[in-house]
Amino acid sequence: MPFALPDLPFPYDALKPYLSAETLEYHHDKHHAAYVTTANNLLTDSGLTGKPLEDVVKQSYGVNVPLFNNAAQHYNHSEYWKSIKPVGGGKIPGALEKALLQTFGLIEKVKQELVQAGSTQFGSGWAWLAVKDGTIAVVKTGNAENPLLTGATPILTIDVWEHTYYIDYRNRRADYLKAFVDNLINWEYVAECYDAAVK
Ligand SMILES: [Fe+2]
Repeated sequence: MPFALPDLPFPYDALKPYLSAETLEYHHDKHHAAYVTTANNLLTDSGLTGKPLEDVVKQSYGVNVPLFNNAAQHYNHSEYWKSIKPVGGGKIPGALEKALLQTFGLIEKVKQELVQAGSTQFGSGWAWLAVKDGTIAVVKTGNAENPLLTGATPILTIDVWEHTYYIDYRNRRADYLKAFVDNLINWEYVAECYDAAVK
């Protein structure tokens, strides 16, 4: 099969108390897995078989809506798992921290803008840090859309679909987002993506 569900990069209970094992079991094993299965089924006869995932996402957008939705959700979730880790938050690697301070003034401001973007995304969607032409911005997108569609490179991916937080936070999306920006972000991975994007 062209696309494969990546393993969760940590044990299911490793993000407690911020995200429960039950949330991660549903989110990874049911939701993400279903996007992968459906994308693989829809890829047949799409004319895009054999292309890298990012190309399938960009080339199916506006052309093959069901394939785009499922391939983009596979891409977005794969980035989401890498954006988080147990005992996340904390120190931000040097070059990334410098770039964030240049753009936002304070790290606290970056976090506030991410919480604001995720909280105000109406319905299902995503909040991101994305790099375009060397500049970092906070971005929000609806449903399966992502920054690749505007020629930007995602470096931090935050899922704000209800299936991400409803078991643990019920309707309190902002509380999930606050926990996310303070305690879950894998800044080392974000820095790797930033370095690659500005090379
Ligand atoms: Fe999700």
